[in-house]
Amino acid sequence: MKNLKSYIDQHKNRFLDELVELLKIPSISADVAYKNDVLKTADVIKIALEKAGCDKVEICETPGYPIVYGEKIINPKLPTILVYGHYDVQPADPLELWDSPPFEPIIKTTEIHPEGAIFARGACDDKGQMYMHVKAMEFMTSTNQLPCNVKFMIEGEEEVGSESLSWYVKRNQEKLANDIILISDTGMIANDIPSITTGLRGLSYVEVEVTGPNRDLHSGLYGGAVANPINILTKMIASLHDDNNHITIPGFYDNVENLSTDERAEMAKAPFSLDNYKKALDIEEVYGEKGYTTNERNSIRPTLDVNGIWGGYMGEGAKTVIASQAFAKISMRLVPNQKWEDITELFKNHFESIAPKSVTIKVTPHHGGEGYVTPIDTIAYQAANKAYTETFGVPAIPQRSGGSIPIVSLFEEELKSKTILMGFGLNSDAIHSPNEHFGIFNYLKGIETIPYFYKYFTEMSK
Ligand code: BES
Ligand code: MN
Ligand code: MN
Repeated sequence: MKNLKSYIDQHKNRFLDELVELLKIPSISADVAYKNDVLKTADVIKIALEKAGCDKVEICETPGYPIVYGEKIINPKLPTILVYGHYDVQPADPLELWDSPPFEPIIKTTEIHPEGAIFARGACDDKGQMYMHVKAMEFMTSTNQLPCNVKFMIEGEEEVGSESLSWYVKRNQEKLANDIILISDTGMIANDIPSITTGLRGLSYVEVEVTGPNRDLHSGLYGGAVANPINILTKMIASLHDDNNHITIPGFYDNVENLSTDERAEMAKAPFSLDNYKKALDIEEVYGEKGYTTNERNSIRPTLDVNGIWGGYMGEGAKTVIASQAFAKISMRLVPNQKWEDITELFKNHFESIAPKSVTIKVTPHHGGEGYVTPIDTIAYQAANKAYTETFGVPAIPQRSGGSIPIVSLFEEELKSKTILMGFGLNSDAIHSPNEHFGIFNYLKGIETIPYFYKYFTEMSK
């Protein structure tokens, strides 16, 4: 790639300014109050794709938020890369825990990012990482070095389950035909240890409701004599793990693949410091399923976590009350072969079966999706690895991630193509949390590495 470094050097301030402008728009897909901002973000992406040299850029309407699509087909005989990303972001709350407002991006240095990092909601997940692809495209088209065909597909509902994208993909198989799907929406081990994400976990997300008496009661007059839904709910939730932190739902582990001793030994070679891990989170000790390491617990093993729980009196001071209802949101991270709809059903049946007759239970499934494993004996993996070697000076380490991008398994089903996950974020970038940020080093390294993937993937496909 000719002049890549100098191009980035020359344009890096503009690259940063453009990302800052994008980050100012609060494109929170979960909250309808931000509808216009989400739509406006789609327009901004459309213009950016046009400027980057895409032809046929369109805002594709769906039942929900639109998909921004753009392509550049230089020769139908050459391979086609489909780039996927998302322009929506997570809600920013709790706002009071941000050191600077989430939609007023600022650049600050940190211990891990001595060259500076952009602080804003969506900086890393996924506006910053998605925009690297737009700028890499700009470089390749404006210097006449685009080696293959490209299609961009940027959605606005990833953080709420990608329902409209599934709708869109099922209706546009031909238009979206490709040789490989390229995504930057994951992380890497450290700025000097690049890695390629080779696995994503699946997800089943449910909401539960426990109802006891038909109204809130005086906790003195009725306490002890009727079921307290909050007591019952917490007791039921506590029973979902045993003393070894195994999940107790019958059948839950039936399809979980067991890695061989060799595979686990291979995994354990990835650089990881438990001390640094604990220090970064301010915890004395880690916690999890007996018999597995921290890295295994958050990648190859399924989990069950309460994400939110509420009910009863939560105002100031004390109110003596037995609430009529209690609620919780629960996520289960799944591993390949566990089908999310089956697991949702297992959860529902089990949860209903362990409830005492004194309450009624309602389980409402939210969204879900299957996990994914990227094969590493492919041209795409080799091309990505070669690209990292070129720009980082060392090869990439394959690593399974604990996060989920449920649409990836649907891509494989509907488009019959594999995905390569070239993530440039760090776990410490605080995605979904207050003070989310993305390193300037990571942003620019991403822009530099992506064109090499195009180059090597095209060369190796011959
Ligand atoms: N980009 C993340 C997923 C991710 C982050 C995977 C880091 C691997 C490493 C994505 O935006 C996300 O947040 N996904 C959700 C699932 C979705 C259905 C809401 C998740 O993992 O919680
Ligand atoms: Mn994301
Ligand atoms: Mn996310």
